[in-house]
Amino acid sequence: MKQPGLFATKPVADYQQEAASKHLVRALGIPALITFGIGGIIGTGIFVLTGLAAAQHAGPAIVISFVLAGIGCMFAGLCYSEFAAMVPVSGSAYAYSYATLGEFTAWFVGWNLVLEYMVASAVVAVGWARYAVKLLQDLGINFLPTKLSSAPFATMSSDSLQLHFTGAWINLPAVFIVVLATALCYKGIRESAIVNTIIVVIKVSIVVAVIVAGAFYIDTAHWVPYIPRNTGVYGQFGWSGISQAAAIIFFAYIGFDGVSTVAQEARNPARGMPIGILGSLGICTVLYVLMSAVLTGLVPYPRLNDAAPVAAALEAHPQLLWLTIWVEIGALLGLTSVIITLIIPQARIWLTMSRDGLLPKVFGAVHPRFHTPHVSTLITGILAAVIGGLMPIDILGELVSIGTLVAFIVVCIGVLVLRYTRPDLIRPFRVPAVWLTSLLGVGFCGWMAYSLPNATWWRLLLWSVIGFAIYFGYSYRHSRLRRPEPAPLDPDSAVSPTHSS
Ligand code: ALA
Repeated sequence: MKQPGLFATKPVADYQQEAASKHLVRALGIPALITFGIGGIIGTGIFVLTGLAAAQHAGPAIVISFVLAGIGCMFAGLCYSEFAAMVPVSGSAYAYSYATLGEFTAWFVGWNLVLEYMVASAVVAVGWARYAVKLLQDLGINFLPTKLSSAPFATMSSDSLQLHFTGAWINLPAVFIVVLATALCYKGIRESAIVNTIIVVIKVSIVVAVIVAGAFYIDTAHWVPYIPRNTGVYGQFGWSGISQAAAIIFFAYIGFDGVSTVAQEARNPARGMPIGILGSLGICTVLYVLMSAVLTGLVPYPRLNDAAPVAAALEAHPQLLWLTIWVEIGALLGLTSVIITLIIPQARIWLTMSRDGLLPKVFGAVHPRFHTPHVSTLITGILAAVIGGLMPIDILGELVSIGTLVAFIVVCIGVLVLRYTRPDLIRPFRVPAVWLTSLLGVGFCGWMAYSLPNATWWRLLLWSVIGFAIYFGYSYRHSRLRRPEPAPLDPDSAVSPTHSS
């Protein structure tokens, strides 16, 4: 019998059957889905990267960078919404690619999603650790020596793959927050959603407070010139600076697509997915644009070159000092919810890949009492804790962005492909002007990926080579497309071995 090829697709009907399964709890209504999205979006990007991108690349025109990156994400978000409402399975972009562009592409996307979720959670944990140490210091508590609050490895430079020892032992606060978030995700989606909702209310209130209180102290002279003249170096101000800043602050938008990975836990995915994805993205875009306008209006943009730029802008105005401690608390809580909402999708994507046979069965285990993919959650947490505790994360941040952009591009192409290969499918949400929207999505995301430094592309290549080695070493041979097995005991999770090449 002829073996299914590298680009064999998994029938959409199989995913729809899985989507109807009851092995995960349908606990999330529309408000919970929107807050899940916001929980994953607002974090390091706005609290840390905005200042650096404004000071080093775009100046006050960082606002334009936020608008452009937001528009790109909106196109991708529309495409995600069509898929997530039609095939509401946990696998997100990985599953959509499997149904449209075939197994090899799906593996490539799934492997890149590890960057977006698992590696990103480690990156955000290190940001959390910095804020935690700063807050403790501000409160006069200094019990953690540097050896226990920073990574033992660092890169020689941002262009290098070589590591050197820093003399530190471990970043304990980063490990601590990952362990805490993992425990919560292990316990249950409902518990995680409740904690997330409380945190989101607090962090959005703090962002709104900065915007409203800060608006009274804007000096419009700081916005002149709005687009500082390019220094002669690509990416240092001018329009190339705006592009590079957009690629950097793209990290701030990552997370909205995480909503699609809890589709199987949504009460009404057909309605909840588009509203959750586009609603959270829209709210955060407005907040980001306003926040960046206020920050660049409070101080001259070079003053934002600070690891805590929001606090730096507020400290320049004695009347706003009271807000600083709240911003630190908001950042700390905000980053906690980002970590939670990155661990949850990673575990669910691995669950889906395992059920497809591309990962060992253990990744697909669901806890009998908590109904969570507990083993995948634990593996995600352990790996994220190791990366966050030991590795340099400065270079990993850009790798996260490029991995995510690759997934977005494939989803934008996939939505168009499926419109032609399966026009008959019922689509509760349809991307308007599908050709235009998906091509603009590919264009915007491709442009942001292109604007990332060359070294990031080389790291992506290395990451992909490792991924392909695993695919050909394990996944290709174990794929359920090639090893049709009897249906699993849980009839809800049955996947038929049919395929098309
Ligand atoms: N968007 C998330 C953040 O900015 C990943 O931290």
